[in-house]
Amino acid sequence: MQVRIVHDAPGSVRTGALVVPVFSGAPLDGAAKEIDTQLHGAIAEVIPGEISGKFGDVSLIHAHDKPYKRVLLIGLGDAKRFEPHMLARFTGTAVRYLGRRNVRDIAIVLPPQVKGNETASASFLVEGATTGAFDATVYQKTPEKRSGADELAILAGGCDEKALQEGVARGEILGDAVNFARKLAITPANDMTPAHMAKAAKKAAKETGLDVDILDEDRCREEGMGSFLSVAQGSAQPPKFIVLKYEGNPGSKELLALVGKGITFDSGGVSLKPPERMEEMKYDMSGAAGVIAAMRAIAKLKPKINVVGIAPATENMPGGRATKPGDIFTAMNGKTIEVINTDAEGRLILADALCYANKLGATKIIDAATLTGACVIALGHTASAAVSNNDELVQQFLAAAKPTGERYWQMPLFDEYGDLMKSDIADLKNTGGRPAGVLTASAFLKAFAGDTPWVHLDIAGTAYLDAESAWQARGPTGTPVRAFVAFAEQLSRNGKA
Ligand code: BES
Ligand code: MN
Ligand code: ZN
Repeated sequence: MQVRIVHDAPGSVRTGALVVPVFSGAPLDGAAKEIDTQLHGAIAEVIPGEISGKFGDVSLIHAHDKPYKRVLLIGLGDAKRFEPHMLARFTGTAVRYLGRRNVRDIAIVLPPQVKGNETASASFLVEGATTGAFDATVYQKTPEKRSGADELAILAGGCDEKALQEGVARGEILGDAVNFARKLAITPANDMTPAHMAKAAKKAAKETGLDVDILDEDRCREEGMGSFLSVAQGSAQPPKFIVLKYEGNPGSKELLALVGKGITFDSGGVSLKPPERMEEMKYDMSGAAGVIAAMRAIAKLKPKINVVGIAPATENMPGGRATKPGDIFTAMNGKTIEVINTDAEGRLILADALCYANKLGATKIIDAATLTGACVIALGHTASAAVSNNDELVQQFLAAAKPTGERYWQMPLFDEYGDLMKSDIADLKNTGGRPAGVLTASAFLKAFAGDTPWVHLDIAGTAYLDAESAWQARGPTGTPVRAFVAFAEQLSRNGKA
């Protein structure tokens, strides 16, 4: 996609479609009014009957003798509730609606809210136009009508061009990162093996100058990762423990660790899952995909901060060597774990990943994992859970994540949840019963984060969606890439890294 910033008046732009925002209950003004006058009231005519301005509403008007061939009106909702991240959904909707109708040359009219907030706005606009183009039908012999624009013109209006330009550059990087994570996640488990994921990480590192280290099974054993390897032992696919390093502040002792669950397929193991929707468990590596993609974006955006990305990758399979319920393993920090349910495997691989983050000297850890079905019950597909051993860090994270449009909601980590994870025979067991499933899982992880300030994100309900929306294809969403990147940038800006 070619993005240009142009200074033409909306009414004189030569384009396949002029994309115009409409707010609910607000009179037409600015560019919309100018176009409406040119079209002899054709816009006013469809409001509110055909388009009310409700978020995501669209209406297409054909223009005959004008430099622009069409006008696409897109509802941005109530102007009083406008947030900049909605611009990503605005352009996402535009490129999906128009791309599927073979209109790939489009011009965006900016809503007035962009003025004074140009960089962030342009970043969202380009992010959304990029993620809206994501193709979820890659395995079809004849793919569906392609979404996405080839030419995207942003009509600057009175906005600061340099600030817009900066946002365009960031939005391209971020949108690409989100799509990269989605591509890794949507790839079926027979193609997206741990080895393939390691290969993708190596390629991302080579392209962007990240350091990469892939620990194979032998090295994981030398490191004492008995918990991680216990999950891998039931699979014919060799595990890979992926480590990516970015050094943006060589003088600093601070190190942010981003950790992601990389179960390339979760069958449940011997505690086999029921067949219904088991195919979705190819997405159980979404946390790891988020880490790899965020690291790639961070390497391009170059914040002044040191970051290590850790992605333990393995299948969870019920092979002949698989863990049997009751088996006990020793994690890297020496703690013993009784495996009650082999389907609670995410926490087992994260246990060693958190220990390894500490070994590398992490001073802050954020992990993301499609960890529990309980999280989907608690928060649905609307928000991810955030659980932490450090209130200051989780508040910083939530503040950085909020403007991105990804939603996180803090849940408590009372000591009692930890009591539920005590084993009669070992230090810990890997399940704590039905109540508070998000939090017993978190309490388990806490035992491996140690004293390092840490935030755990349960993205089970948000990493993928089974329905498409106006702005997004069905399937993987790219969560938590936006929040990971925003948090790294915030640390860099605050000089706390
Ligand atoms: N990967 C699943 C969690 C999951 C479920 C993610 C649904 C996305 C959608 C995880 O490994 C799992 O199986 N968790 C168990 C834990 C239980 C055995 C304590 C669960 O949530 O049922
Ligand atoms: Mn599982
Ligand atoms: Zn899992």
